[in-house]
Amino acid sequence: MKKKRILSGMQPTGQLHLGNYFGALKNWVELQDEFECFYFIADWHALTSLYESPSKIKNYVFEVAVDWLSSGLDPEKCTLFIQSEVPQHAELHLMLSMMVPVPWLERNPTYKEKQDEVKNVDMSSYGFLGYPVLQTADIVLYKANYVPVGIDQAPHLELSREIVRRFHNLYKKKVFIEPAAKISDIPKLNGIDGRKMSKSYDNAIYLSDTEKQVTKKVKSMFTDPQRKMREDPGDPDVCNLFPFHKIYSPKSMQEEIDRDCRTAAIGCGDCKNKLAETMLSGMRPHMEKRREYLNKPKEVYEILAEGRKRACQVAERTLEEAKSVMDKTK
Ligand code: TRP
Ligand code: SF4
Repeated sequence: MKKKRILSGMQPTGQLHLGNYFGALKNWVELQDEFECFYFIADWHALTSLYESPSKIKNYVFEVAVDWLSSGLDPEKCTLFIQSEVPQHAELHLMLSMMVPVPWLERNPTYKEKQDEVKNVDMSSYGFLGYPVLQTADIVLYKANYVPVGIDQAPHLELSREIVRRFHNLYKKKVFIEPAAKISDIPKLNGIDGRKMSKSYDNAIYLSDTEKQVTKKVKSMFTDPQRKMREDPGDPDVCNLFPFHKIYSPKSMQEEIDRDCRTAAIGCGDCKNKLAETMLSGMRPHMEKRREYLNKPKEVYEILAEGRKRACQVAERTLEEAKSVMDKTK
């Protein structure tokens, strides 16, 4: 049986952090065996917020690729490429943009939210309004069945489905596949200050952090806010640090902390020391692979070039199909 196809992308707007890893990347790695996967670095999408400093994007593209490979995305199993190296994305985006009503885009909740959230760049561009149209082109060029996305991206995907239906209604032929969201359960990990982990909050632990930086960040993590004194009992269920133990520490240690925190038998300092240790041993394999790939940029770029070839073949075929049904329409 033919494997179902998965496609997803990530914007190269900064270093990847643990939120990106546990929220997406880890899941992408797990999908490689069961599905035919296409993963790309959305550098054109990154321009929506970085158009004033586009030279940053190139560097982030490389960093993202290095983090992908170090996390276990395997170019033998999946296709890894850079969006702007496959010009069919831009061409299909243009074609779709002619048939998408602007109110569909203005209604998109993330459009308004981002405009309120991003203060340092003017996000009122034509391109940013059309972000979901480009994203639709990304997906449908590969006839992807599923798109692993966070729950916040669900409205975008619904819009993609509507755009596909509109195309099919207009030209009376089903060229594309209506993509379905693949929403996986994601462990709840916040930043060191307890807010959502994000580079704009300066509270993230990065895959590129050194051991020293990780340790320092763990030591400065917010814990149970009610636990002010060493003698106060704490509650791991409301502690910002405990979810990290759930990911990185052995079950026995989790149970011990869960018990001892509630009776104040363990202090937050000791708890943090334990976490720093288990976290570092969890992160070390990635750190080592990361150093290796950083030292062989040529190999990284070759992998992306190979991915580009494979992606172009698929994208070109779909684009030709789309053009031909439009040509045959009266
Ligand atoms: N919008 C996605 C993000 O910011 C990136 C993206 C671009 C994407 N095109 C896509 C994700 C297509 C899935 C499918 O994370
Ligand atoms: Fe959180 Fe650990 Fe402190 Fe308990 S002991 S409040 S789990 S940091």
